[in-house]
Amino acid sequence: MYQLTEILIILAVVFVGYVIWKYWTLTIGAGYDPTPQKMVDKMLDLAEVGEGDVLYDLGSGDGRILIAAAKRYNAQAVGIEVDPFRYVFSWCAVRLASCGDRVKLRFGNFFAKDIRDATVVTLFLFGPTNKRLRKKFEEELKSGTRVVSYMWPIEDWECEDALPDEQIYLYRIT
Ligand SMILES: C[S@@+](CC[C@H](N)C(=O)[O-])C[C@H]1O[C@@H](n2cnc3c(N)ncnc32)[C@H](O)[C@@H]1O
Repeated sequence: MYQLTEILIILAVVFVGYVIWKYWTLTIGAGYDPTPQKMVDKMLDLAEVGEGDVLYDLGSGDGRILIAAAKRYNAQAVGIEVDPFRYVFSWCAVRLASCGDRVKLRFGNFFAKDIRDATVVTLFLFGPTNKRLRKKFEEELKSGTRVVSYMWPIEDWECEDALPDEQIYLYRIT
């Protein structure tokens, strides 16, 4: 029989492990929190994602935005994810959703990856990270590329459109 203190120690270790797993990436971009599916659809609708698009999800988590972009909007989708567990999980989710031919997954830090072929970029990150990404976007993204961010606007950039109640912001590279 476990003593109460042993049970409490196990619960504390599990809880601390969960918090570390969920938030360790906060130091390099954002912690983990999946975008609600309803918001995924609103983001992709607002950006008018379509068949000719190459959508990049920076910090692609469990791959839900990639799968929606590929399956429902017929786009090509590329996810960049730095957490190994989430990367493997999304790899499996993409295969289970039978859209591996239209979705590519890249493991690593999105600040170090080339995103020049994007026509749409999706973000659910963190305010200061969006701000740091502005330089990369200005250097790498083509004119006309749409950037759609959930929850956090991009400081000092002017929105082309927005769903304020849903905290979804759309920008276009000029
Ligand atoms: C808030 S979650 C959003 C996940 C997914 N895009 C979605 O909307 O459901 C942020 C994701 O970005 C990843 N991430 C954070 N910083 C990163 C970085 N510098 N490079 C790659 N991935 C990063 C995290 O591991 C996490 O999975």
